[in-house]
Amino acid sequence: MARTATLTFEGKKIEFPVIEGSEGELGMDISKLRAQTGLITLDPAYGNTGACTSAITFIDGEKGILRYRGVPIEQLAEKSNFIETAFLLIFGHLPNQEEALRFRRRLTDNAHLHEDFKHHFQGFPTDAPPMAILSAMINTLACFEHKFLKIGDNESFEEAAASLISKVRTIAAYTYRKSRGLPYVYPDPNRRYVSNFLHMMFSRPYQDYHVDEDVEDALNMVLLLHADHEQNCSTSTVRMVGSADASLYSSAAAGVCALWGKLHGGANVEVLEMLEKIQTSGMSIEDFLKRVKDKSELLMGFGHRVYKNFDPRAKILKAACDKVLAKIGIKNEPMLDIARRLEEAALKDSYFVDRKLYPNVDFYSGIIMKAIGIPLNMFTVMFAIGRMPGWIAQWREQHADKSTRIARPRQIYTGPTLQDYVEPDKRA
Ligand code: ACO
Repeated sequence: MARTATLTFEGKKIEFPVIEGSEGELGMDISKLRAQTGLITLDPAYGNTGACTSAITFIDGEKGILRYRGVPIEQLAEKSNFIETAFLLIFGHLPNQEEALRFRRRLTDNAHLHEDFKHHFQGFPTDAPPMAILSAMINTLACFEHKFLKIGDNESFEEAAASLISKVRTIAAYTYRKSRGLPYVYPDPNRRYVSNFLHMMFSRPYQDYHVDEDVEDALNMVLLLHADHEQNCSTSTVRMVGSADASLYSSAAAGVCALWGKLHGGANVEVLEMLEKIQTSGMSIEDFLKRVKDKSELLMGFGHRVYKNFDPRAKILKAACDKVLAKIGIKNEPMLDIARRLEEAALKDSYFVDRKLYPNVDFYSGIIMKAIGIPLNMFTVMFAIGRMPGWIAQWREQHADKSTRIARPRQIYTGPTLQDYVEPDKRA
């Protein structure tokens, strides 16, 4: 029998259907609430609000579980790579050989920026924030690829998706090169995704950057671990913009803007800055945590809206840190040492234990990126490269869902009630 939930309001009982997800999560379908009762729900920050059903990513925040299309993140981190995982997220299954080849070919064909596009980089000051450049450039891309803006056309979607996944990496590398006054390095069609990115970032015109296999693997893993995380702030932004039937490009550009925030993707920069501050100030771990507990600071890279247990991505990255640093020949990375001591102390401290605050994905990702040579102000851009397939998958799912309507939350108005306009000479 279909389950229902009953609400009593002013003596009247109203029943609402209860929807059950494939992992047993329950949601009360209140889509008819206002029509039936005149009430709306008030849920600032949406902690109790499901905005859609989705078959892409499953998270159990209490148990620390993360799966993409049912596949545990630990298995993907061990056996897959970023591009295969991107395909899985967007198209719902792991690609067979032919699909994988076709997808890779599309990405390779889409790696180059139009020559005229390059001039747009000249307009930015050298110290412009890379996330601002990235979102502007994704919108700029729509000017060059407006033939793929058509919504509901599969070929346009696949082309736009491949272009965004491929070019976001080229744009990121060019942004870095421009900020350093270095010549742009064109994508190399013979390289794989991550190797090609490192090539565009660090090669010189007549001297190819040697891409270490372990470094490539580590960056692949960082991107893969960021590839989707269900209805987080930036993804919900992508869906919000997408619900207006805005293009994939503008929806993705909006996602970049949301991700930039320091409570979201920007946290990976803040973590490194926090670790550096602790190191340079000579402050003890205990003194820093005291400041956190008296709310003068946040322990960046800790806490999560959904995970009330270890973020499984943080566990994987913590283990990966040692391997990458050893491979690169960094024997003693003071930041890693501070991070470890911070984590150890916080996990024993009742302030963090009681609030169920655990390390999140950003706690260790920055240390890996720093070791690879990615500059601090590019960390959140790396997150955006990683998250692009997730945004695309969510946008695609949203557009395939016949029940999608323009997203339009309501409010409870608390301003002045009706009052007359006051003439300027009569105002206090
Ligand atoms: N350091 C210290 N205290 C914290 C932290 C933290 N990092 N995170 C939460 N708290 C405290 C809050 O102050 C609050 O304390 P109170 O009960 O005394 O008021 C309690 O824990 C509950 O926290 P909320 O703010 O309600 O948690 P919310 O779900 O709204 O926020 C968030 C989640 C934004 C991630 C938060 O934990 C935070 O600011 N963390 C630091 C930034 C960060 O690492 N962001 C990356 C998130 S992962 C991602 O986007 C990829």
